[in-house]
Amino acid sequence: MPENLITIGDFIRCGAETFDEEGLFFGHGTDNAWDESLALVLFSLSLPWDSDSTILEQPLSTEEKADITRLFNRRIKELVPAPYLTGEAWFAGFKFNVDPRVLIPRSPIAELIEAQFQPWLVKLPKSILDLCTGSGCIGIACAHYFPDANVTLSDISTDALAVAEENIFLHQLVNRVSTVHSDMFSGLESRRFDLIVTNPPYVDAEDLAEMPREYHHEPEIGLASGTDGLDFTRQLLLEAGEHLNEQGILVVEVGNSSTALEEAFPHVPFMWLEFERGGHGIFLLTAEQLFEHREEFISS
Ligand SMILES: C[S@@+](CC[C@H](N)C(=O)[O-])C[C@H]1O[C@@H](n2cnc3c(N)ncnc32)[C@H](O)[C@@H]1O
Repeated sequence: MPENLITIGDFIRCGAETFDEEGLFFGHGTDNAWDESLALVLFSLSLPWDSDSTILEQPLSTEEKADITRLFNRRIKELVPAPYLTGEAWFAGFKFNVDPRVLIPRSPIAELIEAQFQPWLVKLPKSILDLCTGSGCIGIACAHYFPDANVTLSDISTDALAVAEENIFLHQLVNRVSTVHSDMFSGLESRRFDLIVTNPPYVDAEDLAEMPREYHHEPEIGLASGTDGLDFTRQLLLEAGEHLNEQGILVVEVGNSSTALEEAFPHVPFMWLEFERGGHGIFLLTAEQLFEHREEFISS
């Protein structure tokens, strides 16, 4: 950073300008250079994210300047997404611990959780499964919004489950939220749930090859799912009905692979959900619909 920078505002401005000049990609918690720079500076100074704008005029010590510069350099030179530098990410209004063992939370499913999946849930769910939980963000946010539900977080990665367990503890939910190590449903035996919600790996080979370098810091097992991005989802559609209660629902994120999914199952009535805060590629199916279309899932 140039030596003439004095205040917090100087560093935020200079960071944002440099991030833009260097063509960094934003998509892991912020969507622009200013917010990204602000987040890193506030973290470095241990200031809250909603700090008053008067802090912009505060001068920085030599040590504080050096700390911010170190963070900026890792963001610019190593292209590490900001949440891996700060160790935290926000989802559905809650803070989660994150590190490179888990995907950085960003699913539009947050909006559905905040709306308690209305109007699609017939009754309040007593049992919820967050399949492919990663940091646990989806299941833990569900536990906050459904205080009477028991929530299971499952993942094939024991590394991810270790982070999810940290977050259960952080959110003081050990009495209602637990983890299960499982390859899809294999570790869940014959358990059934009122709500299964999942943001599984769904990136197709073409998108994976073109992803900005920031994404290469995330675990590949959390992103890739075969040539058309649907390896996981095909198997999920076949098995999910066996794990839902009678009036249960399945909510699945498939992102850009939604087109391939529609083509693969032209007769399945996927309900594509809409989002006020942006996002696409999330469908809902009821237990009944999964049962009705079972033959199509078997023959795919
Ligand atoms: C896209 S990440 C989602 C993480 C988290 N739910 C979120 O929204 O931030 C997908 C997760 O699926 C897990 N996963 C991949 N294959 C799996 C499988 N066969 N069974 C269970 N989990 C799997 C990965 O370890 C990763 O944590």
